Amino acid sequence: YSGYFNMQTDTKMKAIKNYVYTIFDEDPTGHDFFHMKRVARMARFIAVKEGSDLFICEAAGWVHDVGDKKLFSNRSKALEQLNHFLRSIDCTATDINAIREAVDNISFSRGKIPASIEGKIVQDADRLDAIGAIGVARTFSFGGAKGQLLWHDSEEKRQNTSIQHFYDKLLYLKGLMHTRTAKQIAEQRHRFMEMYLQQFLNEWQ
Ligand code: ADP
Ligand code: NI
Repeated sequence: YSGYFNMQTDTKMKAIKNYVYTIFDEDPTGHDFFHMKRVARMARFIAVKEGSDLFICEAAGWVHDVGDKKLFSNRSKALEQLNHFLRSIDCTATDINAIREAVDNISFSRGKIPASIEGKIVQDADRLDAIGAIGVARTFSFGGAKGQLLWHDSEEKRQNTSIQHFYDKLLYLKGLMHTRTAKQIAEQRHRFMEMYLQQFLNEWQ
């Protein structure tokens, strides 16, 4: 982070990374540590381009899936532990609030738009990780973990397949990006997914 962060900020970010590593190591459903790492780096990249707060965006990227209902049985307990951890590394109350605000309401399924620009950036970064080549891989990884089929000949039975997930969600994400930077990155990843789907369906037939 040289050039952007002072030493103290750098130390805090390393501590956040280690905290996230202990929580998300080896998750098989597409929410592993490296998803957090990609979202943190992408959020920081977008923040640089959009002139937003680098520390808040990157930190929020790291912790954005803490407390997610699909991954944690007790959301409020996970968020309370996160608060406690952030206080323990001397994050200010202002920083903690900004991080918490940025990770609230970013899940697609809940259909909300984050109020803060940092929240919008983290939501964009999370959504960029659901499309493109990584998005394709995560979709089948998630589908495998859930025991889903790739696709089905019957229109009725294909509702619960991984390919259907592209039509239900992934092909919409490009149009839902908030920042100019994310929209640009999404264009290319979206085209790749369309090509992938075309090839998949050709081979299927
Ligand atoms: P978030 O809650 O952060 O919006 P999800 O937990 O819904 O993200 O998704 C995590 C990953 O799993 C994403 O890459 C997503 O596209 C994929 N995924 C989610 N639901 C399905 C599904 N029904 N079939 C296949 N992949 C899915
Ligand atoms: Ni995520």
